[in-house]
Amino acid sequence: MKIPRALRPTLLPLLVLPRARWFWRGYTNWRKPNTWRDEPQSAEAAHNPLLAYFEDRKAGHGIFKWRHYFEIYDRHFNRFRGREVNVLEIGVYSGGSLEMWRDYFGPQSHIYGVDIQPKCKAYEGRSITISIGDQSDREFWKRFKAETPSLDIVIDDGGHEPEQQVVSFEELFPLLRPGGLYVCEDLGGSFNGFMMYAQGLVHDLNSAEGVVGNPELRERRQICKTTSFQSAVASVHFYPFVVVVERTGAAVPELISSMHGTDWLTANDKPTA
Ligand SMILES: C[S@@+](CC[C@H](N)C(=O)[O-])C[C@H]1O[C@@H](n2cnc3c(N)ncnc32)[C@H](O)[C@@H]1O
Repeated sequence: MKIPRALRPTLLPLLVLPRARWFWRGYTNWRKPNTWRDEPQSAEAAHNPLLAYFEDRKAGHGIFKWRHYFEIYDRHFNRFRGREVNVLEIGVYSGGSLEMWRDYFGPQSHIYGVDIQPKCKAYEGRSITISIGDQSDREFWKRFKAETPSLDIVIDDGGHEPEQQVVSFEELFPLLRPGGLYVCEDLGGSFNGFMMYAQGLVHDLNSAEGVVGNPELRERRQICKTTSFQSAVASVHFYPFVVVVERTGAAVPELISSMHGTDWLTANDKPTA
């Protein structure tokens, strides 16, 4: 039965509770020992310029990162290197990470930093602009947005409280250029607030309310009219302590499923997903 969208918020517990067993199964089942057939072998790590920069930093302005973040960064950020990109990091601390981003993205990049600590203004430099403010203050973001061009990448490594992270995401994500990335860090701990928020985003991304075309009737094409969220958000990635949300490069008005080919299992078989 299809529940009208307007009624969904009130009926949400009825929708969620019967499905909670799937969540519980995912959360608990994979903790058993001897699950994997093959254990991972240690492999030569691929060269990662960010990790190399981090490891070379034996003196100078400090950088404070979990080591496994570098693979995540390089996987998502690589395509922006050498381009004219605007990158914002919330959480400047000792200024070293802003220097790392500038080195990685190259001479055409501009790096913006935001921190609540006024002393961080000292780390401003060529192509590095620092604004002082509280990331949970919407008035601060209003001023920031008025004086900052559109951003390609936001990295939230600030106060790490869910309220701060959610306010910053809501204020900045719509500011991202098409194809841009939003990275929220340090989400450690089960049931972390921002992780839960991001799981809510995933359900919206997965909405299939506008589907036209019925596979039961052997229609060869199904079209799903996207929600405004699906049109603007390409993907949500979950990593240990990190979530990456990616904007679509162009508006996506519909998602299409179609059947190509002439030979099917039998004439009466219904296609299954
Ligand atoms: C973990 S440190 C940032 C580390 C830095 N990005 C690095 O990689 O070296 C967190 C920073 O967030 C700042 N911060 C804490 N609460 C904040 C808030 N509400 N708004 C803005 N910055 C905040 C702190 O002053 C601190 O400098």
